[in-house]
Amino acid sequence: MKKNVIVGQSGGPTAVINASLAGVYKTAKDMGADTIYGMRYGIQGLLEKKIVDLGEKIRNDMDVELLKRTPASFLGSCRYKLPESSEDKAIYEKIFAILEELEITAFFYIGGNDSMDTIKKLSDYAQTVDSPIRFIGVPKTIDNDLEGTDHTPGYGSAAKYIATVTKELVRDGLIYEMQSVTVIEIMGRNAGWLTGAAALAKSEDCEGPDLIYLPEVPFDVDVFLEKVKKLVAEKQSIVIAVSEGIKTADGRYVCELSAHSDKTDSFGHVQLSGTGKYLSDLIIEKLGCKSRAIELSTLQRCAGHLTSRVDITEAYQVGGTAVKAAFEGKTGQMVILKRVSQDPYICTTDLYDVHKVANLEKKVPRSWITEEGDYVTAEMKNYIEPLIQAELTPIMITGQPRHIIIDDLPDIK
Ligand code: F6P
Repeated sequence: MKKNVIVGQSGGPTAVINASLAGVYKTAKDMGADTIYGMRYGIQGLLEKKIVDLGEKIRNDMDVELLKRTPASFLGSCRYKLPESSEDKAIYEKIFAILEELEITAFFYIGGNDSMDTIKKLSDYAQTVDSPIRFIGVPKTIDNDLEGTDHTPGYGSAAKYIATVTKELVRDGLIYEMQSVTVIEIMGRNAGWLTGAAALAKSEDCEGPDLIYLPEVPFDVDVFLEKVKKLVAEKQSIVIAVSEGIKTADGRYVCELSAHSDKTDSFGHVQLSGTGKYLSDLIIEKLGCKSRAIELSTLQRCAGHLTSRVDITEAYQVGGTAVKAAFEGKTGQMVILKRVSQDPYICTTDLYDVHKVANLEKKVPRSWITEEGDYVTAEMKNYIEPLIQAELTPIMITGQPRHIIIDDLPDIK
């Protein structure tokens, strides 16, 4: 029997998502897989039979190294929610027919909580039809909101980028004598893990941000303006980190308070953007002070030039663990990271039932946020710090990072 495997990427990318792909690829190859297929654009591409033979592109160890250092989903991604098999059996029959035609024994999906829903549904369906195909989830998200794992690959690098640029913005804010307020908008949907990372900017050579707002605590616009007013009276430059997902007490996203925001993606998530701009405009209007909004947007998840070595190493490891698990006969599991020791930092991998992960969002504990909800505690800083350590420099060619591209790889017939 052939030992063919298939791997896909789904949801928003990270700077190290391809290190997990490299981990799946290299381990599967080393463990004797025959063909390692890649789904273009996740499960959505698979349904259209957009499938490539990864061996055609990743030919040697140098290609593996390049892949590890290439940000954004190499295979392409999708935001596609599989219906329940009771609602649409035909879609499952189609997927399994494609997998059987390719003689697939193991299916790997690199993604976040919505992607783990796909693994859950496919592994459940496999049981009902007695299919031997194994389905394993490989965790990934800058949001760090996956249940069961200490942290998610992709988070450490995004946190490192956020801490670094916050530090640089604090410095930039000091150049003029006049008052200014910089509002930095940080991703993370309904969890404040990424925004909390702005606190790491505070160090011997940097005051750090003045205020930090996470979505875990309801946001009060009037209290916020009062605080900023007080700070403006006291100091020249104020830097504020806000999550894109902060909400008012009545449950509305702050970005929805501005005129235009009714965009949703195919997972049904509101596109969160404009929180920083809304607050910055409000500061100009109500306090008459110079203010600027900086939306880190996709920069924070594709900064391949500033990855954490810890993160990229773990991203690679979770890919490898997924393959070993599948080849040992496991299915319906997600690989997790377990922090064994904080100092020295030691982390291992394990497996976790994907049913306990799918569709859930892990939030920052309330006790890691200050009473007034405007900063994070030392505990949160301690948790993040080991994850941003060390660097893995890109392979630089003519002054630019070199990436590996998929463009010329044909779909298999
Ligand atoms: O889920 C990861 C993430 O980067 C979120 O932090 C962000 O809200 C979302 O993706 C943005 O997604 P998209 O690029 O599809 O708009």
